[in-house]
Amino acid sequence: MNLSPPSPLLSVQHLSKTYQNGTGILTVLNDISFSLATGATCAIVGPSGSGKTTLLGLCAGLDRPTSGSVTLHGHALNFLSEDELAAVRNTSVGFVFQSFQLIPTLTALENVMVPVELRGDKQARALAVDLLHRVGLADRLHHYPIQLSGGEQQRVALARAFINQPRILFADEPTGNLDAETSEKVMRLLFDLNTGAGTALVLVTHDGELAQQTQRIIRLRGGMIVEDRDLPPVLGGKETGTRRTGEPENQQKDPRLPHSPILPFPDSGNPTRKTDG
Ligand SMILES: Nc1ncnc2c1ncn2[C@@H]1O[C@H](COP(=O)(O)OP(=O)(O)OP(=O)(O)O)[C@@H](O)[C@H]1O
Ligand SMILES: [Mg+2]
Repeated sequence: MNLSPPSPLLSVQHLSKTYQNGTGILTVLNDISFSLATGATCAIVGPSGSGKTTLLGLCAGLDRPTSGSVTLHGHALNFLSEDELAAVRNTSVGFVFQSFQLIPTLTALENVMVPVELRGDKQARALAVDLLHRVGLADRLHHYPIQLSGGEQQRVALARAFINQPRILFADEPTGNLDAETSEKVMRLLFDLNTGAGTALVLVTHDGELAQQTQRIIRLRGGMIVEDRDLPPVLGGKETGTRRTGEPENQQKDPRLPHSPILPFPDSGNPTRKTDG
């Protein structure tokens, strides 16, 4: 049992992002600060154009802020070179893009293998096949993205994001293109990853139902946080304390969704399988 207090996995301090806009300056994010504990789940909501995707990209080290800082798993991203940023992303971060961003010339299987192939992992293929089974695409391994439906592409993108068993998964509208049934499957997958492997989730969503499944909602408007609130531990259930700093062990006893039949990750018996540092 891990009795040490949860350390912030993600710390965002006074983050701003501006763009030069012809003659003026467009402020897309304005003084954003929040932090997230290991294994926590959080929804980022807000109207179109409020800066959600921009914030996700900055938190994941895909983009650089104009000012402010992001510290992810102990790495101050501002001070990292592009190569160092890529290394942090490859070892600690999963990202599901709003537009999936699958590589059109690669099959579903090859797309999922890309992150581990970059890492030179010999088990890449077996891992990728396993994940595609878990997202219900066992019979689509050799399809190219163009041969897949939107929901299927979404699930390939999720499998790809899972393959490195990231400490934190950023997903930009992961259910945005899905029907209700597939959306529910994807939600279960996300929360199974959280409860089984202790992966923190940061989900941008317009889906109120998905947002309500997380521990916390951060609402953006015009590039600023206008609301940041914790949600009760279990909807309709008894309160067991704040989930904002909840540890994976607690979450396993307190699932937000009924457990899906998918298997846990290979080493998910130990939610802190990756050693720090
Ligand atoms: N490279 C850029 N140059 C200039 N403006 C940009 C750039 N990228 C984003 N923006 C602007 O930043 C604002 C926030 O964009 P962002 O994609 O973060 O919004 P969002 O909240 O994710 O919206 P949506 O819900 O529609 O996906 C938008 O008004 C957008 O036009
Ligand atoms: Mg967006």
